[in-house]
Amino acid sequence: MYQALQELPSAAFLFLSCIVTKLNMTEIPQNGRLINGRYQLVRLLKKGEMGEVYTAKDILLRDFVIIKKTRAEEARIISGLCHPGIVRYLDAFPEAEAFGTVSSGHKAGTALNSVFLVEEYVPGETLTVYVEKNGPIPEEETIGIGLQICEILNYLHSLDPPLIYRDLKPDNLMLQPDGKVKLIDFGIAREYVKWEDQDTNHFGTRGYAAPEQYGESLAQSDARSDLYGLGMVLAYLLTGVDPARIAAEEEGKEMLRNAASQALLQLILKCTETEPLKRYQSAEILAYELKKLKSEAGFRRTKDSEQSERAALVGKPLQTADHKKKQGLKSVLLVILLILGCSAGVLLEFFFLVWLSS
Ligand SMILES: Nc1ncnc2c1ncn2[C@@H]1O[C@H](COP(=O)(O)OP(=O)(O)OP(=O)(O)O)[C@@H](O)[C@H]1O
Ligand SMILES: [Mg+2]
Repeated sequence: MYQALQELPSAAFLFLSCIVTKLNMTEIPQNGRLINGRYQLVRLLKKGEMGEVYTAKDILLRDFVIIKKTRAEEARIISGLCHPGIVRYLDAFPEAEAFGTVSSGHKAGTALNSVFLVEEYVPGETLTVYVEKNGPIPEEETIGIGLQICEILNYLHSLDPPLIYRDLKPDNLMLQPDGKVKLIDFGIAREYVKWEDQDTNHFGTRGYAAPEQYGESLAQSDARSDLYGLGMVLAYLLTGVDPARIAAEEEGKEMLRNAASQALLQLILKCTETEPLKRYQSAEILAYELKKLKSEAGFRRTKDSEQSERAALVGKPLQTADHKKKQGLKSVLLVILLILGCSAGVLLEFFFLVWLSS
């Protein structure tokens, strides 16, 4: 009896830890676990407020995929998209079906709202990780990335109804090894509703989300809200500084001024105007302006290389002087030879005349 009492605390601890483990099992599936009889979880990449993101192995096609526990709305939106710059939808199923049962504590409705979304695995790293590892991106490459994002936004905004992404930030953009950018995470994307003054939910990321979406003057987000986010992404790529700091601190602003040419700085400032009417009005217009900057940057580069070529040519006088020196030497030698020749002739003539007179 005494021994049983002594073992009571450890038994209680064991019991409690079993409950905790069980709770964790329903909350976060462990690595190696099979989902929907097909996807074997490999690694938990992120556990956010809205769900979890895993890498997994599709044992049927023997390929890596991404599995995201998320709202059904994200799966619905992404399943209708098809663009090389947007992560590809593969599959989705209600959480209830993932393990063959409805998990405890979930009513049927809520279980349907939460789904497992299967997407292609995008190789590379997010733009945040890339900048953290390699430092800020030079202006011409940043403009190239901006152009790629414009093309993606133009596709989304041209849908019927337009799709407003609302969460443009370096964390949601994958930079692939071939330099192409891919947009992931449609967690808070929203279809634009005509005649509505305000979004139903106000989400976004501080520093990147437009004021009408996140700040005090709330209004319905539209295409121009995404252009605000794009402007902030460009500012981050050029400086490696969080845009919230750029907006709030003089030091951050100074870093942006130092990193960007006057023309690109003006473009970023226009993208990030508080008043949507003062921003570029579409991704297409912004792309046009970026292309102009890109060709100007290319023109500057060609001029620079022409100048350096000219500088290289200017460096050639040494060769020319050398050449001239050699030419000079040759002429002197010729003159000496001529003089020698002439003197030899005169001497010969002199000896000839002496011989004749003797
Ligand atoms: N398709 C993918 N391929 C490769 N990596 C991915 C993919 N989807 C997500 N990831 C990785 O997982 C991370 C989190 O994914 P995601 O952005 O979709 O969710 P989240 O960040 O939790 O959502 P939110 O930004 O709304 O908090 C990404 O930053 C990225 O590193
Ligand atoms: Mg994200």
